[in-house]
Amino acid sequence: MAVIAVVGAQWGDEGKGKVVDMLAERVKMVVRFSGGDNAGHTVINPIGDFKLHLIPSGIFYPSVTCIIGSGTVINPARLIEEIDKLNHKKVDTSHLVISDRAHLVMPYHLLLDGLEEESRAGKAIGTTRRGIGPAFADKVARLGIRAGELLDKKALLDRLASILEHKNAILTKIYGAEPLSLDEVYEQYCRYGERLAGYIKETTTIIRKARERGDGILLEGAQGALLDPDYGTYPYTTSSSPLAGGGSLGAGIGPTGIDRVLGVFKAYCTRVGGGPMPTELEDETGNRIRERACEYGTTTGRPRRCGWFDAVAAGLSNQVNGLTGMAITRLDVLDDLPELKICVAYELDGRTIDYFPSSAATLERCRPIYEKLEGWQADTTDVRRFDDLPEQAKKYVKRLEELISCPADLICVGPAREQKIEVRPVL
Ligand code: GDP
Ligand code: IMO
Ligand code: MG
Repeated sequence: MAVIAVVGAQWGDEGKGKVVDMLAERVKMVVRFSGGDNAGHTVINPIGDFKLHLIPSGIFYPSVTCIIGSGTVINPARLIEEIDKLNHKKVDTSHLVISDRAHLVMPYHLLLDGLEEESRAGKAIGTTRRGIGPAFADKVARLGIRAGELLDKKALLDRLASILEHKNAILTKIYGAEPLSLDEVYEQYCRYGERLAGYIKETTTIIRKARERGDGILLEGAQGALLDPDYGTYPYTTSSSPLAGGGSLGAGIGPTGIDRVLGVFKAYCTRVGGGPMPTELEDETGNRIRERACEYGTTTGRPRRCGWFDAVAAGLSNQVNGLTGMAITRLDVLDDLPELKICVAYELDGRTIDYFPSSAATLERCRPIYEKLEGWQADTTDVRRFDDLPEQAKKYVKRLEELISCPADLICVGPAREQKIEVRPVL
């Protein structure tokens, strides 16, 4: 059985949660590989409606081992809350595993995320304020604390004491904020450790054994390619890699071990937070998409910016992810529109360009060049076979395949698990 990475291919919120929930039935393991509780993955299935932030979207299948991988950052308070909410709805979490290598979001990360955003004034990134950037910064600065360290209280106290001294200096001397109490943070994290101890494990062995048995494994991405710190709209990005390469690192499976990469795209574009988005629609069509699709952030509730499909950005996403197929979600959202547009190039300072510029400032100056397609103006939510889609909807999907040079393996026509067209077997 294959190892398949399911990655966000735009600016996040493409419907990864739905796609993973749907595919997880066919595998034995799902590994969330990057990000933290900045992610919000909506799953609507016969058990209920759920918003998952850290817990893999395979959790609804008791036989699927769900790993919060080494490449993630975990806010233990939020994870405990998520476990409790699932248990309250009778969803078993005994098959959840937390990598001992995953880093912890600490109280100073939350404070610093807010303080840093405020200090950016008009240039704020629009982060989710979940402490994600500061936690990943500490990981590479070797100031991070990992989940496994919660299991050794004495060692935890030593590390926390020295790190907190440094963090308190930043909080008080740079931002004029109150220092954090070592005792309080230590005791709080000891309690989290006691609560989570049964879940925290060395995961490379668990994953190796699953691969030796030939178990199917899904690597669940968070965020999307255009939020990648290397290839996205830097600095308006997140702080860990949402790409398939990030999946390799964050799960601990070498690149040759990933058999397929499924890029999840919405049939149009959305973005939440600051930064350039060339196809953004600040007009009635944009509002219509937002209201019809209820485009409000799963994690923060902020309205999502909506726009036409950007095939230039999608081409980059294909390249940097090495996609083997696409899942196109929310096709049904376009059902009413009389005319659709796809951005096929940009106009930059009077020239036509066909690539996604590396600089956010340059991208801000790019104007989309559109190709127009007729809408289908018919309900697609009950369609289950590609051939049964309206002709114009088929044309739209085929044009996306051509422009991106990637086949659409899966098309989603509604939020529920069964609202899908599997064009080719994904696994
Ligand atoms: P994720 O972060 O990539 O998992 O995506 P989110 O859950 O943040 O946002 C995707 C939204 O689209 C959720 O509200 C899903 O329920 C919804 N959704 C997913 N696929 C479809 C679809 O094909 N049609 C419609 N109408 N909604 C969908
Ligand atoms: P899922 O997994 C959409 C965005 C934030 C902000 C930027 C940096 O649900 O697709 P951060 O808190 O990561 O430092 O914020 O990234 N962002 C997301 N946007 N979906 C997400 O996750 C996101 N996670 C972060 O809005 O612009
Ligand atoms: Mg989301």
